Amino acid sequence: MSGPDLRRAAAARALDLVEPGMRLGLGTGSTAAAFVTLLGARVRDGLDIVGVPTSEATRAQAEALGIRLATLDELPELDLTIDGADEVDDQLRLIKGGGAALLREKIVAYASRRMVVIADAAKHVSRLGAFPLPVEVNAFGLTATHRAVESAVADAGCTGPVRLRLQPGGLPLVTDGGHHILDAHLGAIADPDALGAALWAVPGVVEHGLFLGIADAAILAADRDGQAEIIVLGSLT
Ligand code: 5RP
Repeated sequence: MSGPDLRRAAAARALDLVEPGMRLGLGTGSTAAAFVTLLGARVRDGLDIVGVPTSEATRAQAEALGIRLATLDELPELDLTIDGADEVDDQLRLIKGGGAALLREKIVAYASRRMVVIADAAKHVSRLGAFPLPVEVNAFGLTATHRAVESAVADAGCTGPVRLRLQPGGLPLVTDGGHHILDAHLGAIADPDALGAALWAVPGVVEHGLFLGIADAAILAADRDGQAEIIVLGSLT
């Protein structure tokens, strides 16, 4: 099965969790987009839900599909957030932010009673860190913050370069919140809690892409002889 088929299979299983009247956090990225597409079809058939998007891209997609939207200020408590991830381990710890939406994604997930991750099973890892860890930083003092993040990473026992994420044209990428992203290429993160705490101590760090103790479950789709096999980590209820 192709990657898009697996993402769609995980998204379809997550759609079973949606009930009429729910306030839903809508994630960002290609897997979350597959979920929003399926959700849009259900809304067209009469399902009444309201969504809070985690990025301008998701907002545009959901609006185009006719999904009713609200801001998190209008709906500060959500029932369920469905979002993708770049890595997920057995303890449901995540790396997120490959799509540069980690700040809004974390705020929305934290405001939700439940967060369920949907992903291709290839994102399931025994140890976090092969995917570069995104760290969202304020534009002010970028060079100083970059150096401080390098030190924090080393203090947490990790090694590897920290690189400013660039847009295709070569300029620094700017997030929906007007910040920049530093990607920490660490290979492996021995102690995610220690790294998260070290990054938090750096003034200028707005948020980091380690989601620790936030996800309740993950729906992973694997290719089993040409069929999508759904693997669930955690509990979907
Ligand atoms: C965006 C994210 C995405 O959820 C993550 O990058 C996974 O994306 P995809 O489903 O396209 O693999 O964290 O900031």
